[in-house]
Amino acid sequence: MKISRRSFLKTAAAIGASLAWVEPARGSRVHWNERRDLYPQGVASGDPDPHSVILWTRRPFAQGTRQILTVEVAEDEAFRRVIAHAPAPVSSSADWTARVLIGGLKPARTYWYRFTDADGNGSRVGRTITAPLPTDPRTVNFAFVSCQDVNEGKLNAYRRMIYEDERAPAAHQLGFVLHLGDFIYEMVEYPDEVKTRYDRTIYEVARLPEGPKAGNFHIPLTVDGYRAIYKGYLADPDLQDARARWPFVAMWDNHEFSYQGWQSIQKAGKERPGQSIKVAANQAWWEYLPSRCKKVSGPSLETFDPPAVTNVAIEKWDENGLGDEPNNRTAINSLIGYRSYRYGKHLDLIITDQHSYRSADPFSDPSLAKLGGDEFIDMAPETLMQALDGGRAFNGGNPPAEVSFGDAHVPNPQKDKPPQTILGATQKAWFKDQLRKSTATWKIWGNSEGALDARSDPQNLPPGLTKEIWPKDTYASMSPPDYGMAYTERAEIYDLIRDAKITGFAIVSGDRHSFWAGYATSELPPGKFDPVGLSFVGASLSSPGTMEATEHNLSKTDPLRALFLADRPDGAKPDWTHNMLLKHGVRSCLEYAKSFDLERARSLSNPDLAPHLEFVDLGGHGYAKVQLSADEMRTEFVCIPRPIARSERPDGGPLRYRVLHTAALWKSGERPQLRTSVLEGDVGLAI
Ligand SMILES: [Fe+2]
Repeated sequence: MKISRRSFLKTAAAIGASLAWVEPARGSRVHWNERRDLYPQGVASGDPDPHSVILWTRRPFAQGTRQILTVEVAEDEAFRRVIAHAPAPVSSSADWTARVLIGGLKPARTYWYRFTDADGNGSRVGRTITAPLPTDPRTVNFAFVSCQDVNEGKLNAYRRMIYEDERAPAAHQLGFVLHLGDFIYEMVEYPDEVKTRYDRTIYEVARLPEGPKAGNFHIPLTVDGYRAIYKGYLADPDLQDARARWPFVAMWDNHEFSYQGWQSIQKAGKERPGQSIKVAANQAWWEYLPSRCKKVSGPSLETFDPPAVTNVAIEKWDENGLGDEPNNRTAINSLIGYRSYRYGKHLDLIITDQHSYRSADPFSDPSLAKLGGDEFIDMAPETLMQALDGGRAFNGGNPPAEVSFGDAHVPNPQKDKPPQTILGATQKAWFKDQLRKSTATWKIWGNSEGALDARSDPQNLPPGLTKEIWPKDTYASMSPPDYGMAYTERAEIYDLIRDAKITGFAIVSGDRHSFWAGYATSELPPGKFDPVGLSFVGASLSSPGTMEATEHNLSKTDPLRALFLADRPDGAKPDWTHNMLLKHGVRSCLEYAKSFDLERARSLSNPDLAPHLEFVDLGGHGYAKVQLSADEMRTEFVCIPRPIARSERPDGGPLRYRVLHTAALWKSGERPQLRTSVLEGDVGLAI
């Protein structure tokens, strides 16, 4: 398993990191005097393999453009057995950040590291852990997290995660944290301009040196804008402590670049060509998150070397919906985020990029507004969404000329467009290849976007409740525009899993700001429910979720209010029937909002609505923990109350609930089966 120094050097050049190599252990040769104030973003490590890991810090200097720090790696926290001592350059052209790839480490080991400048000013001590060897049968433990808005919330979830991990038996401690994106929100509110949103207090994060606004939000256009935001986020003490405790494996979602942006197009409010903005976003991500993502812009080990691009409108699209424009191609390939990791015998982690290569949103053509259906909040006919997603390939290449809702018809705006792809052709080919050749027990798809259908059954509403009539036999899709509605591409991937007889497939995802557990299936009734794996969505660490927005936005007199919120007669906070709507349907919600009798409400459940869902909580926050062994996947949701203010408690504050979803490893052709148990607290209407 010994990797040669030459291949190690090649890796370092591809990712852009300095090198350090393990030597025989000896005492520290550095007069390290801890000065956390001089390292205001702390330390971090990323992307461990069995023999190496990337170490990170930021040490800004007021003078000059380049300085050399020393990085030390030790087998003990007191640095008595130092096994690496190497230069770690920082320069103003990388915003004073350092990345060091340390090689020659032992597998499945804990190490400690620290940085020191020429005057002996030292960073805090970080802890990191290497991956086990691919033959190592030990249980794998990791957490998956997403959506850490510190502009509108606090990271009590990390505090809870640290508290529990410190007290866990060694075999249950986390090996790494998988961060599935929205590490930052590029849309920044200033507390002197806006004081609150929903239940939230707006906290100071950053001042952007430039930029337009979208509503109350400031938007970055340059690398200095994105850098300011990363610095603001990393000032958070809970995030710093988490990064100092575990290696992170991170992937961006949308907000690391742009809210509704895709490829190199910036979209937050108005859409604008953003090739240089995408490059700037990638550069700042590369500078602040140590990873093995490949930067293709240049061989420097120290700086990103952004490629020069011009912001020009994309006018030509290829057969997969990729913008056929040189600046676009350069920008979206300036940092390649998709990658995979083997972690012991039981885990192949395959991580994909859901935004850089995706085709245009097929669901938002303005002509569709003429179809009506506005009374049905956030609901769209599933059959319509399937047709739009499928584009010219729908129905075996015979897409409908018109799409309709009730009596309203409009020409099908997607009739001549390619089917929606989220991965894009190149990444998808890579992804399928990874799936086919994986030999680990569990193949976990780290996908920033949720993949479980969110739907409801408004066809079962009693007559008279709404003026418009929902088409008979048509379910409503309520998914956000993610893998919950990427019907064609999802089916292509799930078909591969079935045809290649791949077992142990599970998706872990984020973005939806809510907890979901269920099954990966390409169809639901009246189609064939035939799951090929498991599918989970982890809640936001802090960002506001659907229930919070609904509590503020939904009219008290809306005729469909009971499908989302059940108002208690005593005026207490309403119950979240929206969870029940997605799992049991409209009849259960209407009954519950009338009687508050859970058993009676569930007895009216529509069994065809959501056989793919075991659990959904649109009001949850927190994190998820995964444990993988030879025969079982255990996924635990740790849910905390709405994180509006920082908890001063060492455990990060109270829990709302802890729920465990267990699945035994299935054989090819068998149906995966989840067992859900509430370990503590109250899950409300989530089951
Ligand atoms: Fe988010």
